[in-house]
Amino acid sequence: MEPVILDVDPGHDDAVAMMMACGAPDLDLLAVTTVAGNVRLEKTTRNALRVLSLIERPDVPVAAGAAAPLRRPLYTAENIHGESGLGGPDIPEPTFEPDERGAVELISDILREAPEPVTLIPVGPLTNIAMLLREHPDITPRISRISLMGGSTNLGNTTPAAEFNVYVDPEAAREVFESGLPITMCGLNVTHQAGAGAAERERLRSSGRFGGVVAELLEFFASTYKGVFGFDAPPLHDPVAVAAVMRPDLLTTRPMRVDVECDSDLTRGETVCDFYGVTGLPPNAEVGVGLDHDGFFELLYDSLSRL
Ligand code: RIB
Ligand code: CA
Repeated sequence: MEPVILDVDPGHDDAVAMMMACGAPDLDLLAVTTVAGNVRLEKTTRNALRVLSLIERPDVPVAAGAAAPLRRPLYTAENIHGESGLGGPDIPEPTFEPDERGAVELISDILREAPEPVTLIPVGPLTNIAMLLREHPDITPRISRISLMGGSTNLGNTTPAAEFNVYVDPEAAREVFESGLPITMCGLNVTHQAGAGAAERERLRSSGRFGGVVAELLEFFASTYKGVFGFDAPPLHDPVAVAAVMRPDLLTTRPMRVDVECDSDLTRGETVCDFYGVTGLPPNAEVGVGLDHDGFFELLYDSLSRL
């Protein structure tokens, strides 16, 4: 079993990523930490608790982290995820409370107690991870790898240049990419290959006890994605970062230097990926450049069926 911690901002795709990680037979989900992103922190935290309560996993501790980016005002995405952050199905209220330690201290405590290094899977703005590295610089040997959803090797989704998670907190993303830790970057260029079309959504509906809720979440997600981006198949961004840990063979990666634009008003939050190595700078990430769509969805169906 590979020990992992998810850092999330649910968010529809975050919710599916959490359920996937809980159903994954080879992952040991040690904790879920929350960050402000898709919606404000109190809502992302309530949503994380609701999802784990729904799937009867109150044993997974949840701790709230940053309510705002390191240096900027929070930018949210209710237009995609709804006012609650989990528009669509009626998911009951949480059955348990968050851990009082907060995200950074919970992650630190768990990493220091774990018998082996732990993989972090951040799928929201990277504020909590940056704060962890700032406040606990000695923690890095306890981190096996960071598999993150964020950035893009090409187009953005929040500005023409920037993907949402990195756009919200580019300074945090820069600190994570410059940490020296092993990073797998699952950017929009690969997560857009994980579109949940009508056929995938129907298969999901029959994938385990909670397939119906997942399908309802994705019907809402599909409707907003169609309205905002014109997509017929909303991309399951965050579950790709989980799949990259479960089955690294599903993601084709290329070592690259990734830098984050933090100053330009036009391109703030862009992940500048040195695909051809023209900077001469050493790579700091394994950047996803291809995804096995069918293999990804078969893994998702199987994981959800195990819940
Ligand atoms: O750009 C997509 C990312 O932003 C996903 O993690 C989604 O949940 C939002 O946080
Ligand atoms: Ca997210």
